[in-house]
Amino acid sequence: MALKGLILSGGKGTRLRPITHTSAKQLVPVANKPVLFYGIEAMAAAGIEEVGIIIAPETGDEIRAAAGDGSRFGVRITYIVQDEPAGLAHAVLTAEPFLGSDPFVMYLGDNLLQGGISDLVQAFERNEPEALILLTPVPDPEHYGVAELDGDRVVALAEKPPEPKTNLALVGVYLFSPRIHDAARAIEPSARGELEITDAIQHLVDAGARVEPHIVQGWWKDTGRLDDMLEANRLILDNLQTRVEGELVDSTVEGRVVIEPGARLERCTVRGPAIIGTGTRLVDAYVGPYTAIAEDCLVEQAEIEHSILLAGSQVRNLAGRMESSLLGRNVKISRDEGRQPRAYRFMVGDNSEIGIL
Ligand code: G1P
Repeated sequence: MALKGLILSGGKGTRLRPITHTSAKQLVPVANKPVLFYGIEAMAAAGIEEVGIIIAPETGDEIRAAAGDGSRFGVRITYIVQDEPAGLAHAVLTAEPFLGSDPFVMYLGDNLLQGGISDLVQAFERNEPEALILLTPVPDPEHYGVAELDGDRVVALAEKPPEPKTNLALVGVYLFSPRIHDAARAIEPSARGELEITDAIQHLVDAGARVEPHIVQGWWKDTGRLDDMLEANRLILDNLQTRVEGELVDSTVEGRVVIEPGARLERCTVRGPAIIGTGTRLVDAYVGPYTAIAEDCLVEQAEIEHSILLAGSQVRNLAGRMESSLLGRNVKISRDEGRQPRAYRFMVGDNSEIGIL
């Protein structure tokens, strides 16, 4: 029976506000590509053809517009609206008409997993457990679902336990047989009012079903917070293949750098890993390692490092270097030259954060 894919792309993205006031968190770009697309590509690479994407009413249209019918990824996408963010197990139940009695991979749309999912799909098809869960040791397991193992069996799970029994966190990728639907129906909402997938898997364990663990070898990132986003950007940029297709005028590029066609650099240095999007202009600027600048940006008389700029942003005449920053779409940051005394002027949305270092 063909394995289906289910990507969860609802959720509010509160920890990435204000970027996510106007845009879905799964569409925030990592190395100039929406986080969500990495998940879709991982499914396509594993041979999955049918992908359901769970969307929220507020951000669903934007996600539909971005991912389309899936043909450009080589998959068929079905969009499934989840009316309320009532938990991951609730999302599975919402997708039941799409999933039917097929086994499936569930992938949280803001997660990034190095090395894809092909090996996991093969292990799942070979061993045929009722569930295969991914685990990784973390320093702060109390913020995740946490698993206890006995050899190659999962014996207990807890969602964000105040006193975790192990440091093995549940990674946001799961493989399930259709038995998960009955388990999701059997559980009650958690203290945070959600139907937790962790509880549904525990229900399988309690019923004697085989739940296999898989310890993740490469890196894994939940990109829900700024620092994780920057870290994910760094990890992806580290594997960049150099490609310089834009226009360089008296400019130097060093290391792994992508300059997209239609980008223009005048009197600049770009030191990779870094990516500069189509239509972006860099003038008398320095762009340092681990920076991703999206399309149609302008950076003039400024230095930027270890940062992400979304489309249409402008940074001009900064006295110091901008670093470890995330700028949303069409943000403008500039300093008036020659004005005495030096002053700051801001127009900033709710929940923004500006650090003057
Ligand atoms: C969810 C799951 C949790 C898992 C985490 C991975 O948490 O409930 O078990 O460890 O994803 O990212 P949430 O991000 O919804 O709080």
